[in-house]
Amino acid sequence: MPVNKRFAGAPMSSASAGWALLPLRAFLGFTFTFAGLQKLANPGFFDANNPTSIQQQLKQATHNSPIHALMGPLGHIAVAVGVVMALAELAVGLGTLLGLWTRAAAAGGMFLSLGLFLTVSFHSRPYYTGSDIVFFFAWLPLLVAGAGGVFSLDALIASRAGSLAQAPAHAPPAKAPNTAGRREIDRRTFARKGAAFGTAGALGVALAGLAAALGRLVGHYADFPNASDPLALSSGTTSPTTSSSSTTTSAGSSPPTTAPRKKPPGKSVGPASAVTVGGAATFNDPKTGDPAVVVQPAAGTFVAFDAVCPHEGCTVAYNTNAKLFICPCHGSRFNGETGGLLNGPAPHGLTKIAIAEGPDGDLYAV
Ligand code: FES
Repeated sequence: MPVNKRFAGAPMSSASAGWALLPLRAFLGFTFTFAGLQKLANPGFFDANNPTSIQQQLKQATHNSPIHALMGPLGHIAVAVGVVMALAELAVGLGTLLGLWTRAAAAGGMFLSLGLFLTVSFHSRPYYTGSDIVFFFAWLPLLVAGAGGVFSLDALIASRAGSLAQAPAHAPPAKAPNTAGRREIDRRTFARKGAAFGTAGALGVALAGLAAALGRLVGHYADFPNASDPLALSSGTTSPTTSSSSTTTSAGSSPPTTAPRKKPPGKSVGPASAVTVGGAATFNDPKTGDPAVVVQPAAGTFVAFDAVCPHEGCTVAYNTNAKLFICPCHGSRFNGETGGLLNGPAPHGLTKIAIAEGPDGDLYAV
């Protein structure tokens, strides 16, 4: 069908596209390289007790992700999943920066972004506040256009392989397509790309090892070292449910002169003795079914909160060292006694759950 020239502009050359996409390519390449190295350098990423760990993130995804059925089995090999994810991000980032198999790197970036969208930011509201869906589409131009020969190892290798396989200048022009020469160029290109890929892979492994070693050397790279998450209630007699809060003052060791407590309204969520002073335990809010956390900041004082992060719905965890609730997905932090927002991206604090200790020693979500 003829193209109406009034609407058809001059076609953009591959190099022009490469130059136009260079800032995007640099950003994506740097970001994915950094993300991979950051995971490897952070000991907390592999520490199951840390709220930002891969174990906690997979656990969270089993509750909220639309592909939650896949998350359960992956949770059993969480460390391996974390290592593979970090190395994949590193490979995608380096391939993009170096212009080495750029389209394949872009496809990998799209795959990783889609996975993160389905497991981490799927519940972002409005949808465009989640970064992963934006990354997914940001990779698309690079998948279509590649590096366009700009600052590209692919282009460099192809041009060298081509010049080496060229016929001598004095040779008579070929009458038919030189398929043998073409095959030779392809063979050389593939071999050189393989060698470049091996070199880039070795560079990536060296970077990864260096990052992991430095991270562990520094030790306190993670925001909250030695995070611990008792989750005591969940291992006892707990029942599931979520959200709203309140404080109650009944001591695990009540004063002997206190009048007998009345049984509070609501449902028992577990024994108060499962929550240590200064510690926390998880349960499910009987009203909503959401994951919830109860904390005993002082002897006999219990506070409980819906553990669903108001940002994108990840499950927050209580850090006993920092006395804070921390969201493993994007790092929002909440006051450990009031649930108030300390820093976002969450738009507000955690929802309180009214909780009280009954005469039988159980905690009741009321
Ligand atoms: Fe994003 Fe919690 S879900 S900070």
